[in-house]
Amino acid sequence: MDKKIETLQQKREQALAGGGEARIASQHKKGKLTARERLHFLMDEGSFQEIGMLVAHRSTDFGMQKQHYPGDGVVTGYGTINGRLVYAFSQDFTVFGGSLSETHAEKICKIMDLALQNGAPVIGLNDSGGARIQEGVVSLGGYADIFYRNTKSSGVIPQLSAIMGPCAGGAVYSPAITDFILMVENTSYMFVTGPNVVKTVTHEEVTSEELGGANTHATKSGVTHFACANEIDAIQHIKKLLSYMPQNCEETAPALPYESRDEKRPSLNSIMPQNASQPYDIREVIEEVIDGGSFLEVHKDFAPNLVVGFARLAGRSIGIVANQPAYLAGVLDINSSTKGARFVRFCDSFNIPLLVFEDVPGFLPGTDQEWNAIITNGAKLLYAFCEATVPRVTVITRKAYGGAYDVMNSKHIGADMNYAWPSAEIAVMGAKGAAEIIFKREITAAEDPEAKWKEMEQLYSDKFANPYRAAERGFIDEVIEPADTRLKLIHAFKMLENKVVNMPRKKHGNIPL
Ligand code: COA
Repeated sequence: MDKKIETLQQKREQALAGGGEARIASQHKKGKLTARERLHFLMDEGSFQEIGMLVAHRSTDFGMQKQHYPGDGVVTGYGTINGRLVYAFSQDFTVFGGSLSETHAEKICKIMDLALQNGAPVIGLNDSGGARIQEGVVSLGGYADIFYRNTKSSGVIPQLSAIMGPCAGGAVYSPAITDFILMVENTSYMFVTGPNVVKTVTHEEVTSEELGGANTHATKSGVTHFACANEIDAIQHIKKLLSYMPQNCEETAPALPYESRDEKRPSLNSIMPQNASQPYDIREVIEEVIDGGSFLEVHKDFAPNLVVGFARLAGRSIGIVANQPAYLAGVLDINSSTKGARFVRFCDSFNIPLLVFEDVPGFLPGTDQEWNAIITNGAKLLYAFCEATVPRVTVITRKAYGGAYDVMNSKHIGADMNYAWPSAEIAVMGAKGAAEIIFKREITAAEDPEAKWKEMEQLYSDKFANPYRAAERGFIDEVIEPADTRLKLIHAFKMLENKVVNMPRKKHGNIPL
């Protein structure tokens, strides 16, 4: 028996050695951890249980029968993070560049199937040269097997992807289907075709970092939700993100213990600038309202005119969507609409209540927006709110103009509680523009058109630049003193805790894409 145990130990040691010392050293030299080191930092100490450590590829072409590394370039298994079950795969760049073979894909699929059947999140740590070139189509089939499972699991269990090295070609589409992508600055990149192909086809000269690095995807494309300073930072972000989520769509996110205390926030009474066209930072309002320091902003550097992220209110996990008057006056455009829609749909899939702060002058005008389909893209945010059945509460802090009033979680599209501050202006448009249109004749005929315009602007403003018309109709449930916002929200979300909505039976909706 001793001999047999020795054989087992040898095989294990061989697997633990990955691609060997030289390749591990080269990985470290690039500022990257190995696949196993990443899992060590990700999981609770001693909790990781590996599955498929001795899996071997079946390829015999190009001398592959002579090259075997137990595990075949990916470490897969399960463990706990803060005591909660998760499944993970971690690609090992030291073995065939972490490339995806038929068996490598089978290992990933196995843990994805287990995760779906057992209702727990899947975390992918990606570091791979793509499809295993020596294997051809079977490795492409392996990718498709993963994509299919990503899609089946979407909305059932949370799926998180960290990109910690190359992720190119077809490989990008698994992370793209998952709920959140985290990239590491300077050591990771994602693109469909690399700089060489780009140069041949479009004659553009671009580096990998410029084309698909973390900062590019965090600011320009929005492909990544987080650009992390290093791998440890990315791992910390994964743990924090998970803390706001339930294990699956049948559960609610764990709440932290909370004892009621003085919930008044008097500073909110003076946060609004005197002049309605002056900006303020909505994040200051968010920070005052939520439990101290609990805000985890998502997509921070992409479409900053809309702020989205997770937070806690009286210990409970909530998702926040807020117009940001400090950037482009908080206008809705294509990028902010898609950003918001995706976040709202995630929260709704996983029973995370939604809190909306509204200060929006409307949709961004212009040929760029119209020709790139602000109509279709703006409709995404509208659709996402309309179909959301989680508790939904809105606070209008200032402007709620035009169609954007409807879109931003209005009562009419299913919001449960709608509050407005006394500074709210709920109208079809700003008073100046409105006066110009409806009093055009009077203004042109006046002796002093400028003075007449001002007078009419004041008239319109007195009538509509307030929350009371909407409150009279019941479109606003209560006009509240800003200092009471936190208190009101705690009560409202508690009241909505057991909300049930029955939607008509259907296969799935057809969100405008
Ligand atoms: N299939 C098989 N082996 C691969 C591979 C792949 N797709 N990608 C990388 N490797 C192997 C390399 O042969 C090398 O093996 P070695 O350690 O035995 O020498 C090892 O992985 C590391 O690759 P290397 O090119 O030395 O690393 P790098 O950091 O300089 O470059 C890449 C990384 C990903 C940019 C580069 O390997 C690459 O371009 N790979 C191919 C990408 C691709 O076109 N994939 C298929 C389409 S999805």
